[in-house]
Amino acid sequence: MANIDSSQPIGIFDSGLGGLTVVKEILKILPNEDIIYFGDTGRTPYGPRSKDIIIEFSRQDTNFLLEQNVKIIVVACNTASAQALDEIRKDYDIEMIGVIEPGAISAVRATKNGKVGIIGTAGTISSDSYARTINRLDSSIKVFSMACPLFVPLVEEGYLDKEATRLIAEDYLSIFTSNGIDTLVLGCTHYPLLKGIIHEILGRDIVLIDSAEETAQIVYKKLIEMNLLREKTASVLHKFYVSDFPERFHQVARHFMGDRIQNVIRIDINKY
Ligand code: DGL
Repeated sequence: MANIDSSQPIGIFDSGLGGLTVVKEILKILPNEDIIYFGDTGRTPYGPRSKDIIIEFSRQDTNFLLEQNVKIIVVACNTASAQALDEIRKDYDIEMIGVIEPGAISAVRATKNGKVGIIGTAGTISSDSYARTINRLDSSIKVFSMACPLFVPLVEEGYLDKEATRLIAEDYLSIFTSNGIDTLVLGCTHYPLLKGIIHEILGRDIVLIDSAEETAQIVYKKLIEMNLLREKTASVLHKFYVSDFPERFHQVARHFMGDRIQNVIRIDINKY
């Protein structure tokens, strides 16, 4: 890896806004780091797309971040982590961290009865990445997976606590009521916003895993290991780029992260 130093920013990409949950956790434990975020708001969602397209988009997202001179790349999107990361990692000489492994580590740590549920987009579930990673960590764990493709549009429309969402969630989650899981991985950036409904359906005792926190811990450890952790600095820079609708991103992101988000810049991702 040529000429990388600790002053360079951390690059993060997602198919849209959802990856801001990861940014938030990274900023909590890495307050001295500069961040460059790219949200592919012009081409979201990635969830229902084919593997080839997700790989192509993820490559372009990576190329854009590399042009910004980042020192490490965090793939904050579950679908891109599940479908593209293994493939694109081979082509780049930079450390890339996805959200599947952190979620799997947290689930293995959390389960007491060895039965874990996974929910995610069609792309994430069809890749079987979570199940494979969990079983690599502990082969005795039984994993039950369910794609919930309607959850992303419901969250994007703000349908967090509506009867329609509850009915759809009951249908998707019914497989988990009979198989006795004690832990459920929320394998999509949007699903943490449905925690309330999921708890109502599966009970308060179920442990819901959101990968963002563990991902931030892994980034922290990786930077130390690579000697790339930034020590105290006079000022930090957080820059946000999107492929469409910068105003909308700005509005939602400010609500989410407050003043840390200043301007949001639109770029043409097709150039990459
Ligand atoms: N960011 C995606 C994920 O975590 C959800 C939205 C999409 O389908 O693009 O899988």
